[in-house]
Amino acid sequence: MDLEVTGVTKAYGATPVLAGIDLAIASGEVVAVLGPSGSGKTTLLRVIAGFERADAGVVRVHGEAVDDAATFVPAERRHVGYVPQEGSLFPHLTVAQNVGFGLSRRERRGTRVADLLALVGLADLGRRYPHELSGGQQQRVALARGLAIDPRLVLLDEPFSSLDVGLRAALRADVRRVIRDAGATAVLVTHDQDEALSLADRVAVIRDGRIAQCDTPERLYALPATPDLARQFGEVNLLVGTARDGRVVTALGDHEAAAPLRAGAVEVLVRPEQVIVGGPVGPACAEVLDTEFYGHDAVVRLRPEAPGAPGLLARVANPSRLPVRGERVAVSVQGPVVAWPRDPVEGAPQARPA
Ligand SMILES: Nc1ncnc2c1ncn2[C@@H]1O[C@H](COP(=O)(O)OP(=O)(O)O)[C@@H](O)[C@H]1O
Ligand SMILES: [Mg+2]
Repeated sequence: MDLEVTGVTKAYGATPVLAGIDLAIASGEVVAVLGPSGSGKTTLLRVIAGFERADAGVVRVHGEAVDDAATFVPAERRHVGYVPQEGSLFPHLTVAQNVGFGLSRRERRGTRVADLLALVGLADLGRRYPHELSGGQQQRVALARGLAIDPRLVLLDEPFSSLDVGLRAALRADVRRVIRDAGATAVLVTHDQDEALSLADRVAVIRDGRIAQCDTPERLYALPATPDLARQFGEVNLLVGTARDGRVVTALGDHEAAAPLRAGAVEVLVRPEQVIVGGPVGPACAEVLDTEFYGHDAVVRLRPEAPGAPGLLARVANPSRLPVRGERVAVSVQGPVVAWPRDPVEGAPQARPA
């Protein structure tokens, strides 16, 4: 592991920010930490970089403890590249001087700075000053500076947040290439979900000061750890159900569980593309409330007949004949479903042992 963060907590005064962060990142991985503004992303990066000390927990970089109860290795000896949130260039230094800032005099005289500028696509702009660059070019300079010490681990704090949307997408692809070409392991924090999903090998989602789930984009969609995360990464139908023997029963039928589950009441995720409309009459029927046709697919809103069943969203691929409003159709679910144990609802009557 290039980076291991275990049980890290950090509070400012009485306000807890990090409440026990666990994160392990393998060599060469690009991991995005995704969370809303104020969720502690910058704080986490500053702890990893060594600008802040954790209140508790351990940070290991390349297997070496750099922050624990007994140790605190200062930032300049961690050999970690850091690209701060924004406006981090020295305005009175040229582009080349900015990039070479952390290097020794000897390193600055060599080809390192020119190589880095070429890497980020700014080979000809070394003599310019930051104010003579566009926002995107400034971010490239900041990235080159973060990579200057040839770190195996580089931390990027919302590197695209100050850029407009079009520029962002272009720079995103470039940054990914640069990090790969540099052979670095990277942690990139962002509040932008599309950015996280498109850029990272894995996405770590911060919730209440902890990593709620750290997984590939595909697994975040297919196997979300909580209903809340399911909603964040796509459209959902959430149903109540009962789990038993690796299967889940809902008003829409009997489904295979996507992951092992203990028996009992569960909340069940059915993605809209799992809902099959029409076809052989199954255990469930529904009334079509409305349809939206998009060519490649269509969205159908349904009201299941089963008492207590919530409204249902279906996404139909390659629709040749769409059901019409008011039509009665069979509804079934294809593929395994994700389910989570359901805590007893407060105030709802509970079965009690006699
Ligand atoms: N130096 C500091 N002193 C006091 N509070 C801080 C300090 N830095 C950050 N905070 C607070 O900690 C919380 C998390 O901040 P931050 O890590 O910057 O979040 P993010 O980067 O996700 O927006 C915020 O509520 C912020 O106001
Ligand atoms: Mg921040």
